Amino acid sequence: MTHRVALLPGDGVGPEVVAEARRAVDALGLSLEWTELLWGSAYRREHGRMMPEEALETLRAHDAVLMGAVGDPSVPDHVSLWELILDVRQRLDLWANVRPARLLSGIPCPLAGRGPADVDMLFVRENTEGEYSGIGGRAHRGLALEVAVETSVFTRAGVERVIRYAFELAAGRRGVVTSATKSNASRYGYVLWDEVAEELATEFPSVRYERVLVDALAARMVRDPGSLDVVVASNLFGDILTDLAAAIQGGMGTAASANLAPGSATPGLFEPVHGSAPDIAGQGIANPVGAIWSAALMLDHLGEGEAARTVLEALELVCREGPRTRDIGGQATTRQVGDAVAEAVSLSAGR
Ligand code: NAI
Ligand code: MG
Repeated sequence: MTHRVALLPGDGVGPEVVAEARRAVDALGLSLEWTELLWGSAYRREHGRMMPEEALETLRAHDAVLMGAVGDPSVPDHVSLWELILDVRQRLDLWANVRPARLLSGIPCPLAGRGPADVDMLFVRENTEGEYSGIGGRAHRGLALEVAVETSVFTRAGVERVIRYAFELAAGRRGVVTSATKSNASRYGYVLWDEVAEELATEFPSVRYERVLVDALAARMVRDPGSLDVVVASNLFGDILTDLAAAIQGGMGTAASANLAPGSATPGLFEPVHGSAPDIAGQGIANPVGAIWSAALMLDHLGEGEAARTVLEALELVCREGPRTRDIGGQATTRQVGDAVAEAVSLSAGR
């Protein structure tokens, strides 16, 4: 069976890092067909929108999507994000955003005295509602009494499915679910979130459940990351905590993510956690580790577990022995790291 993968390089460093992820996958020699979709800010300048009208049908016709990032200084961020990635996550109902935060050996950790044994967290971020439901509006525009209302939406079904998934993942790991909340200050959405988590905890007696206020959780991630296994969080909290997690695992360029609708046939969308990094775009120095790791997550989703392990092991080898890009203490270019990973994949795949 040929896997059909949509490749969405996007803006800024997106195309640079995605090219290396693609080469790592190609080095496996699997039967896999790429469809390159040149959507994003350049597309918008030409067509007036970030992606074509039939974009969702196009994506649905594939088995998975591998994406770089979108965002360009010429387009307001709320427009580029809502016309593409947030829209795709919501309308494909990719409700689980899974982000492994593991410090790979060889990558310097910004936390003093911490090494790979201390940093192995898995974030499960709610991905379609919560604080990013997109509900709200503005009135009295430009006047002194201008008002903006932004409403968080928490549904029992939406909360339950993502927390249940976190429990399932924890059962296959170290058996701890930490739920990020803010139910002391916010009295409705996060209180429902806590209640649902509490109920689900009784269904998973082998998993230890704890509820931690999100501000305290941020501090704990820095102080004692080793105490965290699976962290489940709302859309906003997961967004913020996973940038912190990325920093702890070595930097924005190292973090990977999977947008999934577990239990459905919907194609997953895989992307590094970072954005389009306009400050370093075009220089060939972006770290491709997060993008290549995302490709490994994609291979797992495609049922290619062994191929996923091969790519991840190649990535681990290159992080350990170099070459590394400058954000993680090396001097190499994006391409040189990509070359090394693709070569390690080829060797291990016996090609
Ligand atoms: P960013 O993640 O693009 O950059 C933050 C910092 O991390 C910058 O200093 C950048 O140089 C560095 N960085 C990011 N990726 C890197 C890599 N691969 N290697 C080395 N360093 C890397 O976040 P920022 O600057 O807040 O946003 C830039 C644009 O990206 C905005 O337009 C934003 O809306 C968009 N964005 C898009 C996302 C997506 O498409 N999923 C996610 C986050 C931001
Ligand atoms: Mg983010």
